[in-house]
Amino acid sequence: MAKRQSVKSEVRPAHSGGSELKAQKGKLGVMIPGMGAVATTFVAGVEAVRKGIAQPIGSLTQMGTIRLGKRTEGRSPKVKEFVPLAGLDDLVFTGWDIFHDDMYAAAVNAGVLERHLLDEVKPFLSSIQPRSAVFDRNYVKKLDGPNVKQGKNKMDLAEQVRADIRDFKKSSGASRLITIWCGSTESFIRPTAAHETVKSLEKAMTQNDENIAPSMIYAYASLMEGVPFANGAPNLTVDIPAMHELSRRNQAPICGKDFKTGQTLIKTILAPGFKARMIGLNGWFSTNILGNRDGEVLDDPGSFKTKEESKLSVLEHILQPELYPELYGHFTHKVRINYYPPRGDNKEGWDNIDIFGWLGYPMQIKVDFLCRDSILAAPIVLDLVLFLDLAQRSVELQGIGIQEWLSFYFKSPMTAPGLYPEHDLFIQLMKLKNTLRHLRGEELITHLGLEYYD
Ligand SMILES: NC(=O)c1ccc[n+]([C@@H]2O[C@H](COP(=O)([O-])OP(=O)(O)OC[C@H]3O[C@@H](n4cnc5c(N)ncnc54)[C@H](O)[C@@H]3O)[C@@H](O)[C@H]2O)c1
Repeated sequence: MAKRQSVKSEVRPAHSGGSELKAQKGKLGVMIPGMGAVATTFVAGVEAVRKGIAQPIGSLTQMGTIRLGKRTEGRSPKVKEFVPLAGLDDLVFTGWDIFHDDMYAAAVNAGVLERHLLDEVKPFLSSIQPRSAVFDRNYVKKLDGPNVKQGKNKMDLAEQVRADIRDFKKSSGASRLITIWCGSTESFIRPTAAHETVKSLEKAMTQNDENIAPSMIYAYASLMEGVPFANGAPNLTVDIPAMHELSRRNQAPICGKDFKTGQTLIKTILAPGFKARMIGLNGWFSTNILGNRDGEVLDDPGSFKTKEESKLSVLEHILQPELYPELYGHFTHKVRINYYPPRGDNKEGWDNIDIFGWLGYPMQIKVDFLCRDSILAAPIVLDLVLFLDLAQRSVELQGIGIQEWLSFYFKSPMTAPGLYPEHDLFIQLMKLKNTLRHLRGEELITHLGLEYYD
């Protein structure tokens, strides 16, 4: 009987007992380089939820459930009850920015949340002052600000960030920390010899090598302090061999890149559907207008190139033209981002999708998404913080470096070298949930399910 079940069942037997998870005691400190629209919408939102004046919509950790066992068992606990995640009340925050605005002033300036909501959480937000930033105008040409660290070289700046981290840990009383990059998109760079090993990275930092971006300095400092690091922007940051090595060595998990929100989220919802039904694609033209500071930064060709690379990779990987040359061998994919100040954070994204069906007959789909970028990004930040903390408390996950099971949240997910990233949102979700089941020693779900028809 047992053998029969393993062949026909839609659940795969669990490994015994699950993975060892360290207990979570005390507060979880969240450290955010870049206190702009995403960061402030996230922190203000957490405080609003804690005060009971809003709901954490869009957060899988807060609202999602996870099915366990067979469909007939009716077991679907909430994710946060199934795995021991930090509670919202356990979160404490700090951040870095090149401007002096505290979280409240920065949130008002970002213009995402309404003033009356912000005023309800004003004392809390105002208490979060930005630490001085590591900044290099060569990496973000459209910005400049006064709150910037000075140092004799990039290693010295990393030491200053490490001191900030230790200071925050002490002053907040946090027992665990997470860093999540919500800073501006940096100019496009390719990996170089400096990024190969921890040794070469450290040498390059001491020699002020131009290939060491500010985001890498925060990442290096975090990983050296044993703090996990998530990258919400498309910058290379932790997606270089040196950081993989450091992450594994110091058991500080990493993940990235580029929060999957807006147009790319829709793309990774629609494209798997076309492929599932063997519908062909001739072209996909995406354009959008946005007027926030992120849009202004992306108006620079160097920063736009970083974003474009991240957005373009999605379709190739989902549609696999090498396997389906007749359907996806020749499609044109264009992405445009237009900085248009009147829109603020309320972006509008248009997609024109030229598809073809039976006997090659063409069809078109038009998507007009009146989107709020930071509203989509904030719950991603929350989930990543809680899941990265879980990963670090898991004896099995803490030392593996890249947390590919968190691909669900990224436009350009990091993977082990040589492995193509999985972009299909639904495969990503299955991978995430199966990882949680695996951690808790529950059966993995395969969706075979023949046993119901015996
Ligand atoms: N909003 C979204 O939905 C979304 C989606 C995917 C990725 N992202 C990325 O997330 C990041 C944040 O987006 P946003 O809309 O909050 O942008 P934003 O411009 O409102 O905020 C970025 C903040 O980072 C600060 N900053 C820049 N360089 C810094 C440095 N070296 N150290 C410390 N602070 C620094 C800026 O001063 C600014 O306050 C961007 O890189 C963006 O591309 C956002």
